Amino acid sequence: MAVQISPSILTADFARLADVAAQVAGVADWLHVDVMDNHFVPNLTLGLPVVQSLLKATSLPLDCHLMIEDPDRWAPEYAEAGAGSVTIHAEAAKAPVRTLRAIRAAGARAGFALNPGTAVQQYEDLLGEIDMLLVMTVEPGFGGQSFLDVMLPKISKARELIGKHGGEVWLQVDGGVSAKTIERCAEAGADVFVAGNAVYGSGDPARAVQDLRDQAERATGAA
Ligand code: DX5
Ligand code: ZN
Repeated sequence: MAVQISPSILTADFARLADVAAQVAGVADWLHVDVMDNHFVPNLTLGLPVVQSLLKATSLPLDCHLMIEDPDRWAPEYAEAGAGSVTIHAEAAKAPVRTLRAIRAAGARAGFALNPGTAVQQYEDLLGEIDMLLVMTVEPGFGGQSFLDVMLPKISKARELIGKHGGEVWLQVDGGVSAKTIERCAEAGADVFVAGNAVYGSGDPARAVQDLRDQAERATGAA
């Protein structure tokens, strides 16, 4: 289970996205792009045109996290545009299996996200359709929130279900992941770590990514 770090650009400078990507190129595994529509979450960020421009501006694969009301309509287009991973929310998708299959058919990895109030057990049957399960560790919508410790048992449960399923499903955590919390996430079984403030709120984003990776690897004994 290799540790992967996916810096979130949410709290970075949106007028300089190419530079923001370049700051972590070569050290991060992904660039996490939070798409918000002001309906599924009370915040509005960016959409497909900006993702298309960003794809031309960086060689980092994009990890698109769709916090939108109608992912069935939009998710396949992010995959077709060239995103490496497209994550839809369980609470928003009306036809998750069809949409997850469409994401894969378009050549991207299919991600499935769970809000803090959404239990993981009910989605065990979908694990075969998913390349990455995202356990939100804050209520989605904003960067810089405090990590919800109460999600740690859910991360462990998700890891257990993934192990039982036997497939290659990555387990991502997103929200409040930092030097203070990443070890607990890794110990609970997460292997893909989104970090916004901990990376772009630091003076040296590339160094922050490396430090987070070292910490997570130490915690899982993978160093
Ligand atoms: C929140 C977003 C996160 C956010 C994380 O809804 O999905 O990706 O950018 O930011 P931090 O790491 O600052 O909590
Ligand atoms: Zn996110």
